[in-house]
Amino acid sequence: MLFGTQEIKDDALFIGGIKTRDLVTQYGSPLYVYDETHIISQINLFKDNFKSKVFTANIAYASKALLNKTIVKIMNDHNLYMDSVSGGELYVIYQSGFDMSKVLFHGNNKSIEELQMAIDYGVGLIIIDNKDELNVLIDLATKKKTKIKTLLRVNPGIEAHTHEYIVTAKLTSKFGESIFDDTQIDTIMTNYQASLYVTLEGFHCHIGSQVFGETPFIKTIDVMSQFVKKIEKRYHITINTLNIGGGFGVYYTEVDTPEPLSELLKKLISHAETTFKKLQLDIKTLFIEPGRSLVANAGISLYTVGFVKETYGNKNYVFVDGGMSDNIRPALYQAKYACDLANKMTHLKTKTYTVAGKLCESGDVLVHNAKLPKPETGDILAIYTTGAYGYSMSSHYNKMPRPAIVFVNNGKSRCVVERETYAHLMWLDR
Ligand code: LLP
Repeated sequence: MLFGTQEIKDDALFIGGIKTRDLVTQYGSPLYVYDETHIISQINLFKDNFKSKVFTANIAYASKALLNKTIVKIMNDHNLYMDSVSGGELYVIYQSGFDMSKVLFHGNNKSIEELQMAIDYGVGLIIIDNKDELNVLIDLATKKKTKIKTLLRVNPGIEAHTHEYIVTAKLTSKFGESIFDDTQIDTIMTNYQASLYVTLEGFHCHIGSQVFGETPFIKTIDVMSQFVKKIEKRYHITINTLNIGGGFGVYYTEVDTPEPLSELLKKLISHAETTFKKLQLDIKTLFIEPGRSLVANAGISLYTVGFVKETYGNKNYVFVDGGMSDNIRPALYQAKYACDLANKMTHLKTKTYTVAGKLCESGDVLVHNAKLPKPETGDILAIYTTGAYGYSMSSHYNKMPRPAIVFVNNGKSRCVVERETYAHLMWLDR
């Protein structure tokens, strides 16, 4: 499936009005290419459908999916919030000129330095993971006499994975405190109530990633709302913020069947409105934290085909000039992708190939069972939907320099992250 401005002209794949082969000629290979207009249309899709007259509906981009100065600027220009999970992410967001009051800071093991950094940067909401972290933050805030707004991350006992979900599963997750753990929650609430500086604005949860269908999210709103009600009654407080995390599934291959986001988001809003009303909750702000669904389909990876090999055991390999160092997802999660020879888009797909990288690992496969036309050295191989968690999970394994990232828009391209050189590989060596 082609997304956004991806199109076929004269046998070739174009993106943003530019021939993919020309992008490789100009910027080198392998290459991450992002269709900027597609990212912006996804942002608008979220903004147009995740809105309510009853409460403020906020969208926080989960920056772990793709983080660089340009994406931060896009999120800033479109008034989104941003979610971060480490000092490094905070640093990049801050250095890119983002309004830090619109940043959420997550993490199950934040260091004192990171918490300090979040306070100094003026981060809008710190998401507390556990009672020890709360105590550390209370100490810091008291010393600095600074008011800090927080959400508490809880585990609602809903586990969602791709096409299914289970209620009251995974009580062993490392994130947050279980909503069933009354003792732990009670200690935390008591500490909150004793603090002059750290306030509890509400609760956060995230049930999984690449989740399909509305049911797990609807269930999350139900369970979290009931939990808020219970806490309000027990501690005589009013909770004003709820954050139900990200996880909206996207299309990678034909096995993925995401419901149109516009429908899903509208359903979530209307379900939240009726549930809050029914339970008489005064939730003023509802957050979601999409990462993948904002950037995945906008990105493609371009590789140059090297050798083509048929093994004695009858397996057909197409070798490309990157691999698990620029996209670990197939090796790590058995993630599936669709691909094409970008210079042979209308050729008959005659055989099934294994698209393998050049790294010294048998598991260095990018696409299994790819139906392709006859590949030849110098062809351009495009892998679709690599926009989320591709570059951001890349590594220097086998001393592979990271590819460049290029944004394309309306016939124009610009490099937003330079290709690493061999010199970068020794940058920190003494
Ligand atoms: N909020 C929190 C607290 C999260 O932990 C995550 C993702 C998100 C939001 C965004 O979820 P998304 O909308 O992107 O599904 N590396 C894996 C995905 C890990 C996701 C971790 N948390 C992958 O490549 O599939």
